[in-house]
Amino acid sequence: MTDVTGAAADVLRTLFHSDQGGHEQVVLCQDRASGLKAVIAIHSTALGPALGGTRFYPYANEAEAVADALNLARGMSYKNAMAGLDHGGGKAVIIGDPERIGPPERTELLLAYGRFVASLGGRYVTACDVGTYVADMDVVAQECRWTTGRSPEKGGAGDSSVLTAFGVYQGMRASAHHLWGDPALRGRTVGIAGVGKVGHHLVEHLLSEGAEVVITDVREEAVRRITGRHPSVRAVADTDALIRVEGLDIYAPCALGGALSDDTVPVLTAKVVCGAANNQLAHPGVEKDLADRGILYAPDYVVNAGGVIQVADELHGFDFERCKGKAAKIYDTTLEIFARANQDGIPPAAAADRIAEQRMHDASPARGA
Ligand SMILES: NC(=O)c1ccc[n+]([C@@H]2O[C@H](COP(=O)([O-])OP(=O)(O)OC[C@H]3O[C@@H](n4cnc5c(N)ncnc54)[C@H](O)[C@@H]3O)[C@@H](O)[C@H]2O)c1
Repeated sequence: MTDVTGAAADVLRTLFHSDQGGHEQVVLCQDRASGLKAVIAIHSTALGPALGGTRFYPYANEAEAVADALNLARGMSYKNAMAGLDHGGGKAVIIGDPERIGPPERTELLLAYGRFVASLGGRYVTACDVGTYVADMDVVAQECRWTTGRSPEKGGAGDSSVLTAFGVYQGMRASAHHLWGDPALRGRTVGIAGVGKVGHHLVEHLLSEGAEVVITDVREEAVRRITGRHPSVRAVADTDALIRVEGLDIYAPCALGGALSDDTVPVLTAKVVCGAANNQLAHPGVEKDLADRGILYAPDYVVNAGGVIQVADELHGFDFERCKGKAAKIYDTTLEIFARANQDGIPPAAAADRIAEQRMHDASPARGA
């Protein structure tokens, strides 16, 4: 391990002294028998038990893992608050390479992880994230009842991408309403970068409404899966080509984070950005660059909340229609954010943060104490 003194100091600053008032709790977990090293970060329980997924990732050092857990947990507080859930924000990271661990070792590691989550007595509810899958949550659930994202066979809701795509679609309709006075997407041209689990469901929603769809993906088979079934869908070589397509109305980043940057924003042809990818803004300030160019940005954590709405519902016995009803509210929430942005003269991303912070503040048990 590298010397992490400086990084550890940064982590402590984020934990106790950030502008947002810091985090409530961080748990460092080690199980020597299985080799588990994990971090569970609880940012806020003001609105209810912290909810957020488990990332399994080969971090360069422990301090980097803690910093990631802290950032991700904070993001979940905002996402859950804006989704109207009775949940605060939390996140866990397991340090290691999920591709380089055999099935028996993986099971032991996840069982140990489940015991740590259980030890928090429900203050943190876990789920899948990058590097963990539905089958993993079935294992964690053997040790911990505060586990979501399980398979339907084990009482879970399974793949969350169906409702994530539905929520993004609602965000697009709200954006169209705000910008063009009509939520209908018929005849609009929508470019989707990344047609994986979420992106391909999004294509179906758009086509069924009569939108023109342009796609790109680094995996050829993902593109072929769509163009084979829907010959009207146009594919372009890469994201760089997609964001420059003439006449693009909406750009939907549905691959990785950082899609909106100093390089991409100046050349975007779309009037709206609304997609599933997390952390689309490459750095603070990009939201203002978008606004300056007259591009309407539907905040990522607001429109991609369908997945977390689904896993939260699992705790009450999953009901797809109830969840779909909650995900449909992303339409109203997105409109509320645009209205607040206009009212306060700030970009929509900043407006979403303000509304989420207000919700957490209003619910905080410490308020007025
Ligand atoms: N699945 C969910 O419920 C959910 C919920 C909230 C947010 N998200 C976010 O939405 C995004 C998509 O999630 P997903 O579940 O569909 O993931 P996925 O891995 O199934 O799909 C991502 C797709 O993007 C493609 N891709 C990767 N790099 C690319 C690039 N440079 N250019 C074009 N395509 C590229 C991949 O080949 C893949 O097909 C992720 O950022 C994820 O964090 C997903």
